Amino acid sequence: MNTHTLLTGQTLTFQGDPFAEPWEDCVQINSAGAVLLHDARIVAVGDAASLKSAHPQADIISYGDDLICPGFVDAHAHYPQTAMIASWGKRLIDWLNTYTFPEEARFDDPAYSQSIAERYLDLTAANGTTTMASFGTIHPHSADALFEAVQRRGQCVVTGKTCMDRNAPDDLRDTAQSAYDDSKALIARWHGKGRAQYAITPRFSPTSTPEQLSAMGALWAENPTCLMQTHLSEQPDEIEWVRSLFPQARDYLDTYETHGLLGARGLYGHCVHLTPREIDRLAEVQGRVIHCPTSNAFIGSGALDLPELAQRGIPLGLATDTGGGSSFSMLRTMAAAYEAAQHHGHALHAAQLLWLATAGSARSLHLDHEIGSLRAGNFADIAVIDLKSTAAIAQRENRTGTVWEDVFATLMMGDDRAIRATWIAGACVT
Ligand code: GUN
Ligand code: ZN
Repeated sequence: MNTHTLLTGQTLTFQGDPFAEPWEDCVQINSAGAVLLHDARIVAVGDAASLKSAHPQADIISYGDDLICPGFVDAHAHYPQTAMIASWGKRLIDWLNTYTFPEEARFDDPAYSQSIAERYLDLTAANGTTTMASFGTIHPHSADALFEAVQRRGQCVVTGKTCMDRNAPDDLRDTAQSAYDDSKALIARWHGKGRAQYAITPRFSPTSTPEQLSAMGALWAENPTCLMQTHLSEQPDEIEWVRSLFPQARDYLDTYETHGLLGARGLYGHCVHLTPREIDRLAEVQGRVIHCPTSNAFIGSGALDLPELAQRGIPLGLATDTGGGSSFSMLRTMAAAYEAAQHHGHALHAAQLLWLATAGSARSLHLDHEIGSLRAGNFADIAVIDLKSTAAIAQRENRTGTVWEDVFATLMMGDDRAIRATWIAGACVT
């Protein structure tokens, strides 16, 4: 039986980090490229002509001038907020209380958790996203639901039960002990099983007592290969609230550090209003800053100066923050990242944006040895992008003659209509 498949088209490959070196030196598009798949993995990437002659038995799928990319990696999302995405009119704390918490309370029902997990994975696959780091709800079965759903799809996911023991409604609170016990049981059940990765998930400092943060820190120390995901410095009101709840803390980041929740496997969502000390400390420990630009615009959090953090050597990821973010699309998210950087006088190149949405996010999750780039040995998680997906995009005249001009227009104007195909673990799923 023939188990090799050759995808031909324009292939995007990385040789380095385009935030650390000139993008031309580390990001390439081969206009006559190909990716050879065998079972769940990529086995070769190169010129279409030579791979065709070396593998004459392979099934060939020709994508013409479409761009064959690594699948997108969404480094911060809340799958339980799928059904309340784009809720009107509130700033962060009001928005959480009015829309988010009532929706998350519905996850008390395991069947609802399962149905939203499936819906979320269908929507993200239609948008070319193949891996995500998602928060669950307070309910342990919300993490089970997403892990079970991705396991059926052969998909890689990072998730965890969200922990909150204060400043949340009665039906959305756990305790320091139950958060520890339930998270520990989930780690034993899921972490490292197939493509599942567990993230210890204290929602953010305002919804955890110091006792709960300490319990999460202890659990992380006992399970150092787990990731830890939370929120940091999203809005000024939130930062003020943290200051009043933790009067001894030097700053917001310190509320995590003093409880054992700062490290290179820590994923810190938003980070819009970091102080110089917080930036220094994140750079020192290589804590991951996860940029959520559609959410930062939508909830009015502000425009993160991403290039400044990149320059400091902080590893960065890109994320939708569904449903604080207003889109499931990493294309829309790249457009928002471009616009946020423009506020600070930086024009990110399409090569940098694509790297951020794939290899950069994969590195932020410590999964770059397996996903995030088209490389032999990696999982065959792939997004194929139509560079003329709508009339508005197709009518543009490419005045420079370089493919990057077309790629940039699709990053700025594209959405799920641009996703020609999504492959997960060697299977075409859309
Ligand atoms: N901070 C704490 N929880 C959340 C959340 O669900 N979404 C966003 N955007 N910020 C948060
Ligand atoms: Zn979030």
